[in-house]
Amino acid sequence: MELVDTTDLKSVDRKVVLVRVRQRAPPNIKISMTHPHRIRKTYGRRKGRPISKYQQGLLHTLLPEVTLDLRPEALQTLFKSQKGRICLEIGFGAGEHLAHVAKSNPGDLFLGGEIFINGVASLLRHMDQQDISNIRIYPDDARELLKALPTGSLDQIYLLYPDPWRKSRHAERRFLQQETLQQFWDLLKPGGKLLLASDDPLMITWMEEQVTNFAKFTIDPDENKELTAPPQQWIQTRYESKAVQEKRTSHYFKLLKKG
Ligand SMILES: C[S@@+](CC[C@H](N)C(=O)[O-])C[C@H]1O[C@@H](n2cnc3c(N)ncnc32)[C@H](O)[C@@H]1O
Repeated sequence: MELVDTTDLKSVDRKVVLVRVRQRAPPNIKISMTHPHRIRKTYGRRKGRPISKYQQGLLHTLLPEVTLDLRPEALQTLFKSQKGRICLEIGFGAGEHLAHVAKSNPGDLFLGGEIFINGVASLLRHMDQQDISNIRIYPDDARELLKALPTGSLDQIYLLYPDPWRKSRHAERRFLQQETLQQFWDLLKPGGKLLLASDDPLMITWMEEQVTNFAKFTIDPDENKELTAPPQQWIQTRYESKAVQEKRTSHYFKLLKKG
């Protein structure tokens, strides 16, 4: 697999690089969905409805080009070449938010972890159709990504609408735990930001409790303090539109790791 960092190139040059790499990509790459270092069992769906031929094509051509290589030396090279911010979205679903922030901030690098292959295919479609080249994808359990990223390397982390796992006996399946908040804290640079969002009352309470117990993050003073006010540069995803239609109010925890 070859990673080519094109974020510094003019868009015309980027296209040429992408086309060249795409032509070199082997036609039958198998997407590995297993990893030897799994710690906890995962509960998210890995595959859902059949994937269109076009998106299957992207899984074989574009995904190998934009897959995040977690080897320390590869991460070091990628991060060293970055002049802009480095941001991470965990569980990006259909990828609308990630595509939106990447397109709006072409000088920044965006990393996304998603275990559901239909979601990965959907993000690839956004990238292909909108000519977005500043996203790197980890198509597997994002907890492995958290373990692999270097300490103090991120400017922003997004965890948007994580699965609520409503039954209390399933609480340990929720992505947000004290240990996850500690990982977020360690991965963020001083001055780095964390955005948590949910429309599920149980998950909103859980987020509030987790953040309060963790106690290290402060409320981001650059953002509206109201929990129901979305952050700047916000895009309503299909998931959130459905919540609005169904009269559920989204809450946004806009947090800061004080520098
Ligand atoms: C309720 S959906 C929200 C999707 C998206 N964030 C949005 O706002 O539209 C939760 C997403 O998290 C993903 N997910 C759950 N556990 C994960 C894990 N351990 N690693 C990566 N993705 C995960 C699921 O596959 C799903 O796409």
